[in-house]
Amino acid sequence: MDLGLTKATAFIAGASSGLGKAVARELLREGARVAICSRSKKRIFAAAEQLKKDVPEADTILPVVCDVTDEAQIESALDQTVDAFGGLNLLVSNAGGPATGMIGDHSATDWRAALELNLMSTINLCRHALPYLRKAVASPSGLARILMISSLSAKQPVPGLYLSNVSRAGVQGFAKSLSEELGPEGITVNTILPGYTLTDRLAHLSESLNEQTGKSIEEIEAGWSSSSALKRIGTEDEFAAAAVFLLSRRASFITGVALTVDGGAVKSLL
Ligand SMILES: NC(=O)c1ccc[n+]([C@@H]2O[C@H](COP(=O)([O-])OP(=O)(O)OC[C@H]3O[C@@H](n4cnc5c(N)ncnc54)[C@H](OP(=O)(O)O)[C@@H]3O)[C@@H](O)[C@H]2O)c1
Repeated sequence: MDLGLTKATAFIAGASSGLGKAVARELLREGARVAICSRSKKRIFAAAEQLKKDVPEADTILPVVCDVTDEAQIESALDQTVDAFGGLNLLVSNAGGPATGMIGDHSATDWRAALELNLMSTINLCRHALPYLRKAVASPSGLARILMISSLSAKQPVPGLYLSNVSRAGVQGFAKSLSEELGPEGITVNTILPGYTLTDRLAHLSESLNEQTGKSIEEIEAGWSSSSALKRIGTEDEFAAAAVFLLSRRASFITGVALTVDGGAVKSLL
């Protein structure tokens, strides 16, 4: 299937590692031009170098330093991308995940920081990308898509992940509202909800649970695997394949959807 992404332009937030970087790799394989951002200059330039090695045939990869909790940095990063590429077809919102803990573990400051990291960053990325996406959908290419990387916790709250559970619920409300408003313009808006997927974040999570509970890393990972129907943890590539489909021209009649890529971990019927 031709996904129709050759020469499409993309901005992927939170892409020096993990899921964001995997989506960048898959888009590059499809012939897209891709800007990736993260907070660390060292990490985002290293990621760009790695991606060039992984996809020697890649068109253009543009590393941009941007902390998505800072609105001015978002504006500047998107401007740099459009200056370099001449437009923007695809926005992928993403960032790191918030800390784990129970109700007594988080101060009001922690709550605000988590909402800035996972909810406000998504809203601000969309607000500032929207003028460019509107231009793209009105251009001969006609392609404009938003994809928000969220979490299965949006559908099924995860014990000990209050900060994630609450901010992801907000992302779903925002995504559905935006999909309704932008649908008539031909801009699709979807969320993708990863289950346990082997990335740096998951490795850190298992280390911190190992310290907190004394359980071995193997036991912790086995627990995560057993929660899914497929009885294993997902790979970054499996996640990226689904994400790139939702970003592609072939996903033209899919909007307002929250797609779990979780090996069957969420147990609800719909
Ligand atoms: N992996 C899973 O199993 C899983 C499951 C459910 C949900 N999720 C969610 O999916 C998202 C991505 O997870 P991941 O596993 O790919 O995490 P990861 O490996 O830790 O990658 C997170 C990326 O975001 C960047 N980042 C963090 N804070 C940022 C900020 N303020 N501004 C810009 N970039 C920022 C990091 O780069 P720098 O450090 O260089 O800034 C890094 O590139 C997270 O929200 C996570 O909670 C993951």
